[in-house]
Amino acid sequence: MYDFAPVPGQSKPSLYADLIEAARAITHGEPDTVANMANCAALIGLFLPDLNWAGFYRMVGGELVLGPFVGKPACIRIGRGQGVCGTAAASGETQLVPDVHAFPGHIACDAASRSELVVPVLRAGEVIAVIDLDSPLPARFDGEDAAGIEALAAALADCI
Ligand code: SME
Repeated sequence: MYDFAPVPGQSKPSLYADLIEAARAITHGEPDTVANMANCAALIGLFLPDLNWAGFYRMVGGELVLGPFVGKPACIRIGRGQGVCGTAAASGETQLVPDVHAFPGHIACDAASRSELVVPVLRAGEVIAVIDLDSPLPARFDGEDAAGIEALAAALADCI
C-alpha cells in the first residue's frame, strides 16, 4: 500500500518537492508508461487542492491523445495548436491560463473549469506529452505551480 499525502499548510515549493519525490518513488524501476502516468495523475489529484481534472495527453502521430487522468471523461484527440493543450504542444511552452473563457480556442471538457495549467513534457527536445491541470477556481495557478509542474514533467520525461 502506498501512503503518500501532502503535509497540511506546507508551502507550494515544499508541496511540489514532495509530489515529485512521490512520483519518482512510484515510477522507480517501472517501465510501463501507462502505469506510470496513471499513478502520477492520481498523485497530482492527491497532492494539489482545488482541481477538477488532472492528467496526461500523449503526442501520438502528430496529435495529442488522451492519457491517464483523474476527473470527468474528456475529449480524446486534440490537434497540435488547438486549445490550451495543443498550444502547449505546438509551442513547447507552459500555458498558464487564469481565465479559460478568455483563451481563444479553449476546449471545454468540463464546464466547471475556470482556470488551467498545461505543461509540455519534453524528451530530447521533442514534446512527447502534456500535463493538463484544470480548476473550478479562477486564477487557481501561479508561477510556483508552473515551476512545480515543469519540474514534475522533467522528472517524468524518461518514464512515461
Ligand atoms: N481545456 C483543454 C482540453 C482538455 S480538458 O481540459 C481535459 C484545452 O483547451 O486544450
